[in-house]
Amino acid sequence: MSGETEFGPYRDGDAGAVAYLARHAFGLTRESFERARDLFGADTLRVLRRAGRPAGSAAVWTWNQWFGGRPVPSRAVAFVSVDPAARGGGLATGLMRAVLEEAHGAGCALAVLYAATQPLYAKVGFARSGSWFRYRIAPDRLAAGRPGALPQPMETFDADVLAGLRRREAAQGNGLVERTEAAWTYALHPFGEEGRADVFLTGPAGAPDGYVAVMPPSGRRLVVVDHCVLSGSALRRVRDFLAGYRSMVDEIVWVGGPEDPLVHGAHEARAAVDGWEEWLLRVVDVEAALTARGYPPGATGDLTITVADPLFACNHGCFHLTVANGRGTVTRPADAGTGGRGVRLSVAALAPLYTGHLGPAALARQGLMEGTADDLATAARLFAGPRPWMPDRF
Ligand SMILES: CC(C)(COP(=O)(O)OP(=O)(O)OC[C@H]1O[C@@H](n2cnc3c(N)ncnc32)[C@H](O)[C@@H]1OP(=O)(O)O)[C@@H](O)C(=O)NCCC(=O)NCCS
Repeated sequence: MSGETEFGPYRDGDAGAVAYLARHAFGLTRESFERARDLFGADTLRVLRRAGRPAGSAAVWTWNQWFGGRPVPSRAVAFVSVDPAARGGGLATGLMRAVLEEAHGAGCALAVLYAATQPLYAKVGFARSGSWFRYRIAPDRLAAGRPGALPQPMETFDADVLAGLRRREAAQGNGLVERTEAAWTYALHPFGEEGRADVFLTGPAGAPDGYVAVMPPSGRRLVVVDHCVLSGSALRRVRDFLAGYRSMVDEIVWVGGPEDPLVHGAHEARAAVDGWEEWLLRVVDVEAALTARGYPPGATGDLTITVADPLFACNHGCFHLTVANGRGTVTRPADAGTGGRGVRLSVAALAPLYTGHLGPAALARQGLMEGTADDLATAARLFAGPRPWMPDRF
């Protein structure tokens, strides 16, 4: 980064200047900036100083993101903002490079974010790599008839119980994160303390197999802020429970993935997609990322992957991936020794391949991945899995 800027932690005296950045980036009041800072922790904030004054900021934290049944350390990036009077001069690009270098140094294999503008992040190696869907359905389309057993209120709130259920779901899919305490608070209290959701558990006491968290009905709409369904009986219970609000609401809305159980298990196929966003992922450390994730249980094979990464020299070059028993091992052949074998792609194109958002054929059709038909087929087998998603916004 140029000599006149300096990237580092947020300091006590930065509140006014960083709140100003947040005001002109996201329209946040000073009060809401301070509430978010206190919830996520001032230690998550980073500041880019120019001539000693904050000119840009970001928030970062590390959580596990699950791929192929294994947790992978991933750095969440949020709240990227640059002084409106200093935009267009490369500050955000410098800020993001510094964020990624720090993530690499902290042992993160991945970085993940939601983008308000993609070109900024594409320049530093991020690509669209997973989904966030908002669904809507009329309650009588979700379930019909008299309800069976219903979910029961979680009498004493215990985030560990919910986290345990979500971890089981994460291990079966791709992209889900293990929420930090702040992320749990944000997920279940999205509208602040006055907008607290109530949580209901499915399954036998002491051995739940799902939960649903809802806000009270308002404006003939029921907002499901979070849900996790791990069995057919949990699905039936959650469905019947939500349909029970039908005298007071015309629609139920929730966030889910492409294989959402409420969508696919609805009584009638009438769920509408109200919103679709794609989160962006960057492979920060190729070797660590390939080693940490899991692979389909029955898949075995070898694949040489040649990655182009202009930002991190350690990611640039050849990786030989061997997959067996659901795990991958990586060696580093010299580029010259591969004789052009295997697949070739940029670090940005590696991201959707890694998460399962796009397969090799789709990437090759876009001109983003090269390889023989056999090598592309091997890549398709090794990186096969459920389509990646996450419900969390940040
Ligand atoms: C988006 C933002 C952070 C860019 O900061 P910046 O210092 O001007 O960015 P840079 O000069 O490093 O430009 C990097 C890329 O970002 C994009 N970009 C630049 N200014 C932008 C703007 N005002 N709006 C949207 N995208 C912009 C461009 O693609 C640019 O690349 P290019 O110049 O090669 O085309 C800044 O405009 C901002 O704070 N906006 C409001 C908050 C926001 O949208 N944050 C992102 C949340 S995910």
